[in-house]
Amino acid sequence: MLGVAGAGGVGARAGVVWLMVTTVPGLEDVVLREACERLDVLEADLRFGNVGGRVSLRIPEDQLGRVFALRSIEHVIEIIRVFEIERDRRGLDQIYNGVYGCSIPLGSTFRVTCERIGEHEFTSLDVQRVAGQAIVDRYGRKVDLKSPETIVRVDVAHNLCIVGVQRTRSSLRIRYPRAFQHRSALNPVIAYAMLRIADVKPGDRVLDAFCGGGTIIIEAAQAFEGLELIGIDVSPKSIEGAWRNSEAAGVRDKVKFMVGDSRRIGRVLPVGFKIDKVVSNLPFGIRSGRLEVIPKIYGEFLASLRPLLKDDSRVCLLTVHKDLMENICASLGYDILESKQILHGGLRAWIILLKPSMGG
Ligand SMILES: C[S@@+](CC[C@H](N)C(=O)[O-])C[C@H]1O[C@@H](n2cnc3c(N)ncnc32)[C@H](O)[C@@H]1O
Repeated sequence: MLGVAGAGGVGARAGVVWLMVTTVPGLEDVVLREACERLDVLEADLRFGNVGGRVSLRIPEDQLGRVFALRSIEHVIEIIRVFEIERDRRGLDQIYNGVYGCSIPLGSTFRVTCERIGEHEFTSLDVQRVAGQAIVDRYGRKVDLKSPETIVRVDVAHNLCIVGVQRTRSSLRIRYPRAFQHRSALNPVIAYAMLRIADVKPGDRVLDAFCGGGTIIIEAAQAFEGLELIGIDVSPKSIEGAWRNSEAAGVRDKVKFMVGDSRRIGRVLPVGFKIDKVVSNLPFGIRSGRLEVIPKIYGEFLASLRPLLKDDSRVCLLTVHKDLMENICASLGYDILESKQILHGGLRAWIILLKPSMGG
């Protein structure tokens, strides 16, 4: 059983490291499950500081290196101290004193970065300024905004100030240099979460019927063993890009991409072909301005997919059109097993897990 970490003033413990990891808001439980599989998690707090997309973990210090291999997170911050502050201007003095009193492992140069969540009478720039001054006053180190040796995080989440050292430079969502940038490319952290929610297992045949630049299929090839992986997209340019991305990711020999129309998926795949898991980021029709065609695409896709599914097949879809999906599923013989709201590129979206209805 995991304890929940209290935030106020809790300090360091010998041999234990206290981390704040960031993820896509809505995926905190996926982070906890993955972390518990790969690490000895001693304590965890989902929505740390009452902020979505942040999870705090206490783990044995000698396991810190393993955290960077987690696929459900973006950044890793080693927490040094958490303390309560006022939301008015007095909060700035408290931040100065709190940071001054911290023992921060610093290189010869540093920069303070602040993310501020909630209503305050000061800005994140104010926080960076006073926290930076506290470090200069106490340690006499030089500020280097461009390429500091140490990035000190001083975040303000409502009435909490979280001081730490950022252990990641670029986001862990960057898995490989993309050779092709699809204009609606999915964050691989979301792709990983969807594959987990679909419960992909060795031996599964996995299809992304709207694969674009191949993010989901490539993530599956990198993160899971023993899958048969197929991506389909109506755009030849995207399919060519997906092949190039798979090459850049070093998984070209593990994947297959095909041009095809997923509204008539039975014509794209061989007769009698069965699929274990479908994991797709559907078109939303928002940026392309073709919203009116979305109900037809979703309906025709799910109708043409139905004969290719087995009783235990699972379909995991990302969409912003939750109500539409619920209506279509009811009429086309699918049961919704789970709907999970996430924040995707500033949009409220849902990961929806379906199974074919019995006898449907
Ligand atoms: C949201 S994008 C997918 C982006 C992808 N997940 C990535 O990371 O690159 C949706 C894709 O669906 C494709 N698409 C739209 N209608 C389709 C159809 N009828 N059949 C197959 N693909 C289609 C579009 O070409 C687009 O690439």
